[in-house]
Amino acid sequence: MKSLDIIAGARPNFMKIASIIEAIHAHNASSENPIEYRLIHTGQHYDKTMSEQFFDQLNIPKPHINLGAGSGSQANQTAQIMIGYENALQEWKPDLCIVVGDVTSTMACAIVAKKAWIQVAHVEGGIRSGDMTMPEEINRIVTDSISDYFFTTTRSAGENLQLQGIAPGRIYFVGNTMIDTLLAHQDRLRKPDFYDGQGLDKNAYLVMTLHRPSNVDQADTLDKLLTVINENTGKARVIFPMHPRTKKVFDSIGKVYTNVYVTGPMDYLAFIYLVKNAMGVVTDSGGITEETTILGVPCMTLRDSTERPETVTVGTNEMVGTDEGLIAASLRKMVSRNWKTGSNPELWDGHAGSRIIDVISKL
Ligand code: UD1
Repeated sequence: MKSLDIIAGARPNFMKIASIIEAIHAHNASSENPIEYRLIHTGQHYDKTMSEQFFDQLNIPKPHINLGAGSGSQANQTAQIMIGYENALQEWKPDLCIVVGDVTSTMACAIVAKKAWIQVAHVEGGIRSGDMTMPEEINRIVTDSISDYFFTTTRSAGENLQLQGIAPGRIYFVGNTMIDTLLAHQDRLRKPDFYDGQGLDKNAYLVMTLHRPSNVDQADTLDKLLTVINENTGKARVIFPMHPRTKKVFDSIGKVYTNVYVTGPMDYLAFIYLVKNAMGVVTDSGGITEETTILGVPCMTLRDSTERPETVTVGTNEMVGTDEGLIAASLRKMVSRNWKTGSNPELWDGHAGSRIIDVISKL
């Protein structure tokens, strides 16, 4: 493969493409067969705090094209991205389109590329939660059903793909590009501006992130979660960097949760600093459960299923769900420092991006 489109659209995509792009540059510096690429930002996330600051901090080059899709209903957003990418393919057609993760941009661009007879590679292919109420699960299934090559983060993801009838020769177990980025930036982490002002001490506070529609779109559900969390963390403060989706509903509740400090979406280097030094993390994100696994930080997930089972079987994550009694009991366990310890999943070693480019350069 000599030419690629690399698609990124929403916040968790940016950490995943950073290491792939770096690996392309490293390949081109030493190879007689350089890989040409075009970076396409779909514009699914567009706030500076949700997008641009990740490009700046992670040294990701400015996208060649921004499709400017923006927010909207699932169908509306998918349609905007598809129309934008189809137009972008009129200008230039790559040999291969690389999509990462499971956001709407991933699925939308995979469909457009495939219909334009361009081969598709799915980075993070094969993971499954089994929960069809989550848009991400549909995005994963659709993307995997039309992709040509699969770069997987775990062996179980490859097994899922084979169960779907994908030939083993199209599946490459390479590790985790999000963890490449995590490991590459350990020396650059920076203390958040509010850290000292909030009186935070290493291992003495919790970090919380919530943005899944099932947890945050209804005010009474979000209020119930925040109330139980506020009341069961003992002396530990809870730092809550809030996603814009969550903020809309949070503002409509209008309550103060005295133990919870709310801040806006954080930049990558400050957020990872905050997590690395925390006593534990409460989340409904998938990506963060991978990061806490590698950082060795206790993590509880307020969902009933995970597409990343190794964060539980190997790592520090526990699936707690959304029952208030279970959340309270798990929080008490976390703040009394009785959490399990974990280890690192296979091949989450910082080299997934270069393994991917090594494979692609030989296709
Ligand atoms: C998306 C992904 C989710 C991922 C998350 C990380 C899908 C289906 N979901 O969810 O898998 O975990 O990103 O953040 O692709 N908004 C802003 N500014 C922005 C972006 C969004 O204010 O820059 C607000 C808008 O009001 C928007 C809402 O957040 O309507 C939701 O954004 P959207 O991209 O639809 O989904 P996320 O919840 O961010």
